[in-house]
Amino acid sequence: MTRFVFAALALAMPAMAGEAASPITFTKDVLPVLQKNCQTCHRPGQVAPMSLLTYKDARPWAKAIKAAVTTRKMPPWFADPKYGHFANDRSLKQSEIETLAKWADSGAVEGDPKDAPAAVPWPKDGWGIQPEVVMDLPPHDVPAKGVLEWELIALPSPFKGDTWVTSMEILPGDASVVHHICFSFEKHRDTTVYNRYEWVQVPRDETGNATPGNTGFGELPGMVMATRDVGSNEVKLRQGHPTLRQSLDFCYLPGAGYDDYRAWNAAKLVPAGTDVIVSIHYTANGKVVTDRSKIGFTVAKNPPPKKFLVQGSGEDEPVIAPTAANERAVFASAYNPTFAIPPNEANYLAPPMDITFLKDVEIVRLRPHAHVRGTSAQYRVTYPDGREEVVLNVPNYDFNWQLSYGTALKLPKGTRMRVEFRYDNSANNKNNPDPKRWVYQGFQSWEEMMAPNLGFILDRDADVGGLMAVTN
Ligand code: HEC
Repeated sequence: MTRFVFAALALAMPAMAGEAASPITFTKDVLPVLQKNCQTCHRPGQVAPMSLLTYKDARPWAKAIKAAVTTRKMPPWFADPKYGHFANDRSLKQSEIETLAKWADSGAVEGDPKDAPAAVPWPKDGWGIQPEVVMDLPPHDVPAKGVLEWELIALPSPFKGDTWVTSMEILPGDASVVHHICFSFEKHRDTTVYNRYEWVQVPRDETGNATPGNTGFGELPGMVMATRDVGSNEVKLRQGHPTLRQSLDFCYLPGAGYDDYRAWNAAKLVPAGTDVIVSIHYTANGKVVTDRSKIGFTVAKNPPPKKFLVQGSGEDEPVIAPTAANERAVFASAYNPTFAIPPNEANYLAPPMDITFLKDVEIVRLRPHAHVRGTSAQYRVTYPDGREEVVLNVPNYDFNWQLSYGTALKLPKGTRMRVEFRYDNSANNKNNPDPKRWVYQGFQSWEEMMAPNLGFILDRDADVGGLMAVTN
């Protein structure tokens, strides 16, 4: 008996010694994963609440890291892995999840500093890109409460001649009040006034909901416009329509801070004589805040071989065949009068959006956008030969994460795409501010939206006009 115990111990000892020789350590096993999958957000100045740059930063979070990765709450990624391939897929492999979990369970040790990979040279001052040109947006006061409409403002472009922009980023001054900032490059018009905010006075009831049919989209009779000069508090009202127009070149949304076209050898041409039209939407957070946001760019020295375009961009050569029916291609919900979510409806399928591609296209990005009642989004293509393929399925859409999915879809002319979004207007949806009311499309997060946001890559000199038509 005694002999047996000794034998067992003798056998066990070398195995334990072997394990002790290579425990899971921070420097060797954990840090490489944090660098690759977490630090874009988990470093000072970024969206996440704590830094995971160093052992000292990460050690107190070991248990929370295990919980967050084993439940797949972190990193945020919502594409159903059964469909599509995404260049920017930041989800963890099962083996990486196990590494982080084992590290937390085995005392979260540091290990030998010599094992650590070099620190990632993250851009400074909170940027995601390292901008070469920076534009300051005028400081904007945000009141403690109330509804702020989407405001437009025109600013001169920071570029002198024709410029190929290779990446762009909006750095919010105070992320807690910036709901979104979008901008587009538009040709300067004689009527454009710089440094003046302009917005539609949307008629709202006491709950903040707009009247169906007048949510600030389009050019309706009886619209009231408000303007305010930068630096002044005086708001002027007039009947009429917006004087500024905007397409959608780039948007800052939580979780989507910058666009970088360098990976595709692409850029976006900003011709000389272009203005930057910025659309700003603040949400009050209970405190009076002055926001100072910035826009940053990198630019190409020589024109790159490809250009990047988003659906909805291109005033002179619209991506979408310019017919009235196609206007709603940007916000599928916006011009669709049948988009109406009944009270307490837990699984509302919005009228689907059908797109037909009128030329061969290359789509590199899909960014489904809905508001707080949005629950899922699916993009399905039917090729001219009849073959069908789901190219993106987001079964658990989360409004708090406006993620872009980087695809590589080469679709021949005649391919059709169907986009379907679902919404939960029941009390089960914990983000639902009011399950008792009908919900229509609108700009505010408690109203709804359905926007598929396709991003295209084209040869630099290719014609842009009429890449797609909305057929339903
Ligand atoms: C796209 C940005 C982003 C990425 C990438 C990201 N996080 Fe987070 N993380 C956040 C934000 C924002 C929060 C706070 C809000 C929340 O909990 O949703 C957070 C919260 C957390 C928390 C706290 C969770 C809790 O329950 O309070 C942990 C732990 C965490 N992240 C770990 C990680 C790890 C580990 C990775 C990489 C494997 C990662 N995160 C990747 C943005 C990110």
